[in-house]
Amino acid sequence: MLKHLRLERFKNFEDSGLDLGPLTLLVGTNASGKSNLRDAFRLLHGVSRGYTMAEIIGEKWIEGGVLQWKGIRGGTREVAYQQAPAFALEVTFDGPEPSQMLLYRIEVAIGPNGTPPRVARERLLIEGKGFVFDSHPDSNPPPQADPLHLAVRLRKKSREGWVGPAVSFINERPVLSQLIEHPEVKLEKVKEMARHTISALASMRFLDLSPEAMRLPSLPGQTILGDRGENLSSVLQAICEKPELEHALTEWVRELTPLDATEFEFTPDQTGRVLLTLVEENGQRTSVYSASDGTLRFLAMIAALLGTQPARFYFFEELENGIHPTRLHLLIGLIEQKVATGSIQMVATSHSPQLLGTLSEASRSDAALIYRLPNQACARIRRIMGIPEAARVVQTRDLARLHSSGWLEDAVAFTDGPEAAL
Ligand SMILES: Nc1ncnc2c1ncn2[C@@H]1O[C@H](COP(=O)(O)OP(=O)(O)O)[C@@H](O)[C@H]1O
Ligand SMILES: [Mg+2]
Repeated sequence: MLKHLRLERFKNFEDSGLDLGPLTLLVGTNASGKSNLRDAFRLLHGVSRGYTMAEIIGEKWIEGGVLQWKGIRGGTREVAYQQAPAFALEVTFDGPEPSQMLLYRIEVAIGPNGTPPRVARERLLIEGKGFVFDSHPDSNPPPQADPLHLAVRLRKKSREGWVGPAVSFINERPVLSQLIEHPEVKLEKVKEMARHTISALASMRFLDLSPEAMRLPSLPGQTILGDRGENLSSVLQAICEKPELEHALTEWVRELTPLDATEFEFTPDQTGRVLLTLVEENGQRTSVYSASDGTLRFLAMIAALLGTQPARFYFFEELENGIHPTRLHLLIGLIEQKVATGSIQMVATSHSPQLLGTLSEASRSDAALIYRLPNQACARIRRIMGIPEAARVVQTRDLARLHSSGWLEDAVAFTDGPEAAL
């Protein structure tokens, strides 16, 4: 599980940290920085894909003119806080051994216009033990590098301590993704830690559901839900091939949507693509063409969580969008049930502090407010239950106060503004 994300000069975060729980709800007004946090996770995910920094931040094309990866919104010019020359991201997560924590950090130099971004420094640490690899370890003399390379020390025990040989890596691409294949890296332990880190960052999905994408027919066998909900029908078809999953799907659709669904039909078109039709108890048939946006969003979230190829980390944009308020707590219930198994972790964004009232106590304590103080460009992150006023309001269940626009932001501005320092 990911435990903490640190952002330095990334998008509108100058220097901020986000603690992560099994379910972390991010609440904040428009343009507070919620999707910038998604971009930070996506950037780390891009590292696991083996792309160069230019590809991760820009875009990645493959043969045939196929766009494989959409980069970070705003590209290289807007990735660093207020056009700073560099930014850094750091993530803390469970290591391969019990109660072992790893910390991966990457610092990226943007460089002048027209040159690709480069890795300025990169390291993987075992908390409390020291580095697995580090491009500038505290060693004397520091390893030499040229403008196109990073000299990286690898963890190896010697008489002088945990300092191993320096190996040179191209700085256009993260060291993490070059390390495993590098002919000079022979240390199995180092490779194992790198593989573990890559796999922690690889299993991530970013869902920003769009009803148009979910209504498109899809080819049987496509079992990975696209970020916008593409392949919804074929993902659900694969779920329905497994009786126990089909049963769970039916139960959840009946719970979460107004439909009394008893059966799922997948009708192929001329091209062999299938489209889902829900059949209700009374024979009423609703295809995904005519299903409501809210129903489609529920279906996609169930597909993502029950799907045959689930990810370990999900980032859901605007959880409450298109979903009737009276059914939100059921969706939260489904999510909390899934994350409680420990195999899935989720971060979800919301405009609505009202959602706090539907969270269990545990996930409420992990919920964070993303906010900007008046007249300040940089965003901040705070655990909502750590804001004294908010904790009191949530406890007394005076949720109407949370609804009122900007109440939480006012509460933090009061305790967090320049006056607080007086
Ligand atoms: N490099 C940057 N430096 C400073 N602010 C930025 C940068 N990139 C984006 N922003 C600001 O971030 C805000 C958008 O944040 P976003 O995460 O999309 O908001 P939301 O919370 O609605 O998802 C905008 O106000 C934009 O000005
Ligand atoms: Mg957003």
